[in-house]
Amino acid sequence: MSRRLGLLAWLLPALGACGDGNREARRSQLGPDPTLEQRMAIADPAAGASLYGPCSACHTIGRGGPDLAGPNLHGVMGAPIGHRLQRYGYTAALRSVGGDWTDAAMDAWLASPSRFAPGTKMNYPGMADPLERADLIAYLKSQSR
Ligand code: HEC
Repeated sequence: MSRRLGLLAWLLPALGACGDGNREARRSQLGPDPTLEQRMAIADPAAGASLYGPCSACHTIGRGGPDLAGPNLHGVMGAPIGHRLQRYGYTAALRSVGGDWTDAAMDAWLASPSRFAPGTKMNYPGMADPLERADLIAYLKSQSR
């Protein structure tokens, strides 16, 4: 048992190192200013999973997981923005955005939460890389069953 754990401890960082799903190779398939649709067409949920680490400081994502500083994110894609979980206290800033978490809305939110919903309490600066955002959106979509 402890030998197995030892092996895991050795394997996990090795897996992490190749967890970007060949992002640079995929990036080279895109033109200089790809649309969200073009990015989503080559997005990789497994590569997105390896970008989720910073989010997990404030969000669980498993079905039925607890809210931390931020709400549990299971099934968030397609759900109403800032109105999905009755039990969670969303800010008026996020509640008043309106609409659903489409790819486009999530892309804008992840790029800059404070620009998307000025006054939000999600204290996260944003993710600058458009392909990383697409990978993360693909991962969020995969966490809905
Ligand atoms: C420092 C804590 C923190 C970090 C880090 C963080 N969040 Fe959040 N997140 C929050 C809080 C707090 C809210 C609620 C915002 C509000 O009500 O204004 C939120 C809201 C959200 C929502 C809206 C959920 C809904 O039900 O409408 C999504 C989606 C989300 N976060 C995704 C992410 C992702 C993806 C990451 C990682 C890139 C991330 N967050 C990083 C704290 C955080």
